[in-house]
Amino acid sequence: MTTVFEVEKVNPLKPLEGKVAIVTGASRGIGAEIAKALARNGATVVGTYNSNPASIEEVGKVIAEEGAGTFHAIQADVSVAEDTERLATEVVEKFGKIDILINNAGITKDRTFRKMTKEEWDAVINVNLSGIFNATKAVINHMLEQQYGRIISIRSIVGQAGAFGQTNYAASKAGILGFTKSLALETASKGITVNAVCPGYIGTEMVAAMPEEVLQNIVSQVPMKRLGKPSEVAQAVLYLIQADFVTGQAISVNGGLYM
Ligand code: CAA
Repeated sequence: MTTVFEVEKVNPLKPLEGKVAIVTGASRGIGAEIAKALARNGATVVGTYNSNPASIEEVGKVIAEEGAGTFHAIQADVSVAEDTERLATEVVEKFGKIDILINNAGITKDRTFRKMTKEEWDAVINVNLSGIFNATKAVINHMLEQQYGRIISIRSIVGQAGAFGQTNYAASKAGILGFTKSLALETASKGITVNAVCPGYIGTEMVAAMPEEVLQNIVSQVPMKRLGKPSEVAQAVLYLIQADFVTGQAISVNGGLYM
């Protein structure tokens, strides 16, 4: 007897049709590109911004011009629990459910540890790590009720390898790994997968702000000899959304810089 493994058919054109996604920090960089990629694949996307309405309007405009999925912007500071609660409530009221959460919002406040202030430490931990607690806390009950959810957090190569001047950022990005694996265990039998993507050095404003010689030195060490593109991080996110049997994982998108 032959065993046939049937692969569920997915619509190859709009595989995320009917799905509602939240992307935090969608006004620029990697978050903006993830929002566009999800919309192009048919999702209804809610992108959050903190203080930059003009940038997120641009993201919405691109999506509208392309005639891709629906895009809606909501202001939310992920480090403030009231904001993420309001965000989730508004999304459910407007679109009926939340299927996908992309925890992307993140900041840097680079300084050697000797000089780093408690404020710089707290600011980065509050946004990058507690922000993920807040946003996930706000959506998890909806996902549990519907027995479906995709939670994907954007980490960084810096959480894997460390980086000079980034003890706060590295700690926050390493912390996401423990969060991801633990929540993956708690929700694996409930239709929810929890994964992470670890970008290397990607061509965004955040990386462009690095001292030129530091950046050049890093690029020279990348086996692919270039910065990554935000859309290349979005490719990994799309994969994780559709990968039903993958949970508790972190995919590196770094041109081979850290293996
Ligand atoms: N490697 C080795 N030594 C370095 C160094 C580096 N990358 N950067 C600075 N130093 C040295 C300095 O030359 C100086 O040495 P001396 O005391 O012998 O002169 C010493 O360290 C202290 O330097 P500073 O007083 O300038 O240190 P600072 O506390 O002001 O911090 C810095 C400087 C913020 C670390 C700055 O060098 C910097 O911005 N570096 C880049 C940090 C970085 O990689 N950021 C990544 C941003 S992108 C991102 O985070 C996205 C992602 O996920 C990948």
